[in-house]
Amino acid sequence: MDMNIRPRRLRNGASLRKMVRETRMDKSSLIYPMFVKEGTGIKEEIPTMPGQYRYSIDQLPYALEELVKAGVGSVMFFGIPDHKDECGSGAYDENGIVQKAFREAKKQFPDLYCIGDVCMCEYTSHGHCGILHGEYVDNDKTLDYLAKIALSQVQAGADMVAPSDMMDGRVAAIRSILDSNGYVEIPIMSYAVKYASAFYGPFRDAAGSAPAFGDRKSYQMDYHNRREGVKEALLDVEEGADIIMVKPAMSYLDVIAEVKENIVLPVAAYSVSGEYAMIKAGASLGYIDEASIICETAASAYRAGVDLYLTYFAKEIAGFMDEGRIG
Ligand code: PBG
Repeated sequence: MDMNIRPRRLRNGASLRKMVRETRMDKSSLIYPMFVKEGTGIKEEIPTMPGQYRYSIDQLPYALEELVKAGVGSVMFFGIPDHKDECGSGAYDENGIVQKAFREAKKQFPDLYCIGDVCMCEYTSHGHCGILHGEYVDNDKTLDYLAKIALSQVQAGADMVAPSDMMDGRVAAIRSILDSNGYVEIPIMSYAVKYASAFYGPFRDAAGSAPAFGDRKSYQMDYHNRREGVKEALLDVEEGADIIMVKPAMSYLDVIAEVKENIVLPVAAYSVSGEYAMIKAGASLGYIDEASIICETAASAYRAGVDLYLTYFAKEIAGFMDEGRIG
């Protein structure tokens, strides 16, 4: 055969394959989402997310220690309060569950980077991500609450805030309250491109945050749309976001790639609860190989362009990187 171009030449042997890899991944880009709840002595497994737990504050340091040992340097906290009301007041209470988590985490592990999910659905009696006007979430009224939530998280020790509510204008509102309180250095990672997705199902079980009526389609995005994702990302860039997130990850790789092309900020993607649950379920039935699928899905997100990856598999992925299996 007369062939001067042979793509297989560069696939011959593990070291060569590793040398010519196009996608490099690093543990410092991993963020681990965690659930904290009121009470003591609690480490309860989330039924639809085997291997993931809800922790009370006293149990949190043990979990964080494991994480730090695995080389994961960043967490995102979700609070599960024991009291909910119409306006989600537990979300901005200085003694709220997530505020306690920030204080404890920063006390025990000052170098651990702690991010706050800024939203109301875990704290509202109706389970929507804002203040209701009838059955509609009132955008502008909600902004004041989101700003208060973000500020209270930062005052409790959050290093970064990440609004996930999908109200218009929330990045500007949060930037403004943080700046006027002297927190000009606290970055905002915006869940800018967040779709109304069934992949959040297990999370809603975990956090008890399913909407009591209706759905989130009047604020989260329609999954038929890609260009709208770019529009959302560009708007949040203008409002002062520092990092743009796309969510979910696995079924939205095209959106990640498109957003990455169109902005100059770091891009994050959140591999959500349903992605985790599918892999766990498939693997427990013996239909797929868990480790291989975790590696392949993680690499696909980085290949699409993510700089930061939020995943419930953060510890496992860090381990696979150490082994040199991916990265
Ligand atoms: C809060 C929020 C949700 C998730 C992250 N932040 C739930 C939702 O929007 O319904 C989902 C995360 C996951 O599924 O892992 N709004």
